[in-house]
Amino acid sequence: MHPMLTTAIKAARRAASIINRASLDLDALSVQSKQHNDFVSEVDRAAEATIIETLLDAYPQHAILAEESGHTGQSEYQWIIDPLDGTTNFLHGFPQYAVSIALAHNGQLDQAVVYDPTRNELFVASRGKGAYLNDRRIRVSKRARLAEALVGTGFPFRDFSHLDPYMAMLRDMLQKTAGVRRPGSAALDLAAVAAGRLDGFWEIGLSKWDIAAGCLLIQESGGLVGDFEGNDSYIDTGNIVAGNPKVFAQILHALTPHLTPALRS
Ligand code: IPD
Ligand code: CA
Ligand code: CA
Repeated sequence: MHPMLTTAIKAARRAASIINRASLDLDALSVQSKQHNDFVSEVDRAAEATIIETLLDAYPQHAILAEESGHTGQSEYQWIIDPLDGTTNFLHGFPQYAVSIALAHNGQLDQAVVYDPTRNELFVASRGKGAYLNDRRIRVSKRARLAEALVGTGFPFRDFSHLDPYMAMLRDMLQKTAGVRRPGSAALDLAAVAAGRLDGFWEIGLSKWDIAAGCLLIQESGGLVGDFEGNDSYIDTGNIVAGNPKVFAQILHALTPHLTPALRS
């Protein structure tokens, strides 16, 4: 295993032990609101601090982009960190949240870890080496028809500027697929596509730390990731479609009629 991936796993497990401990007494947590429907708890901050400390201990020269503390350092290596993806679920005791850590080298994703502490599921990938769930190789599903596909999504919940096109997309997808799910952690949704548990996924306006690790997991398990026109702008805009190659193409096709200029690449 690549030493940088080993370090990322160590960091994710340390963060997860903070998260697990805090999950035993949610009422004791102090929670602040960053904006409407956007909460941060002391757990997000403590988990992030532990991850950064672990990574910089091993690689002091590397740069960081982390949800709660932003950008630090300048390097060809950048760690992209969401210490707790699915904070709203976590704060409600709804067991669907994860730690997400990716490493980009000169802008290209090289290493990925998504760790689900509620199920002890560790998803990892290194570029060119495949994706694994708890040491077993994972692949995207083989389902070929959108009509048979189970598709994940995320509802708009703090920024409602794309609510109308989103609702039109959802309306269409409800009718064209076997089912739509909104689990509430984009990192885990993407890991589920990589593992073939979901056949596809789409969401508007995610952040880099929500998707970086999940995107490499999908690419290394034979899936495709793109923006709403199938291009590469998703990593910056967070407008993302993912899936096995067949379902990916059909989701793009289904969403096309609902694209506003702002949702094009
Ligand atoms: C959120 C989750 C959610 C997605 C949101 C994200 P957070 O991350 O990934 O599934 O719909 O857009 O912001 O805030 O819990 O880290
Ligand atoms: Ca997130
Ligand atoms: Ca988060």
